[in-house]
Amino acid sequence: MKKLLISNFKSNKSVDESNEWLDELVKTVDWNSLGNFEVGVAPAFPSVEEFSHRIMEAQVPLKLTTQDLSAYPAGSYTGAVSARNLADLHVKYAIVGHSERRRYFEETSELVAMKVVQALDNHIIPLVCIDEPYLEEQIKLLDTATLSKCVYVYEPLSAIGTGDNVGVGKVAEVFEKITKLCGDVRCMYGGSVTDQNVSEYLLIAHGVLVGSFSLKANDFAKLVATATAL
Ligand code: PGA
Repeated sequence: MKKLLISNFKSNKSVDESNEWLDELVKTVDWNSLGNFEVGVAPAFPSVEEFSHRIMEAQVPLKLTTQDLSAYPAGSYTGAVSARNLADLHVKYAIVGHSERRRYFEETSELVAMKVVQALDNHIIPLVCIDEPYLEEQIKLLDTATLSKCVYVYEPLSAIGTGDNVGVGKVAEVFEKITKLCGDVRCMYGGSVTDQNVSEYLLIAHGVLVGSFSLKANDFAKLVATATAL
């Protein structure tokens, strides 16, 4: 299983700024040297379609990721983006249950479980974000077969966007809890990851989710170069 290096734009950047980022990344990353890594990007929804076309055109193995998707199937759910809406866009991963969604959009573990099912039903791999306070609650809402198909991202609230990344020992402890409950699954870390600390996490993690540090394409490319040189 390849390790994942995923950039999460959150709701930063206009469409033009997002395209500039993509052009820069395509030029800067050595795409032939990714080895055992996959590189992904999760732009805001208005850029997903254009990114899909541009990635195809550039012929680079950049994995299109969404920051969310609807808990409901295609249908009368005004304002939602269903997995079906994404069907032709070559979306490989979807972040679900990010703590910012829980915090600002009142997303519950029940809704996140529904999103996981929607993603998997539509051949999108969910990157399920979890933190300790709701780790068990979230996992209990998914059946064994579903649990084995997800990738888990340990995202401690204290580390997100703060520059205060959590030590590898703690991350290992949480990964152990996850694998005890879910079996042999991929576990990633997210929270103030930079090119300076990414190597430590990759010793134990199946990847990293990178917010702030990935907002400049050059910085993210540096992180990719650091990771893939390991
Ligand atoms: P951060 O965000 O890298 O800015 O801490 C990570 C995330 O929210 O996934």
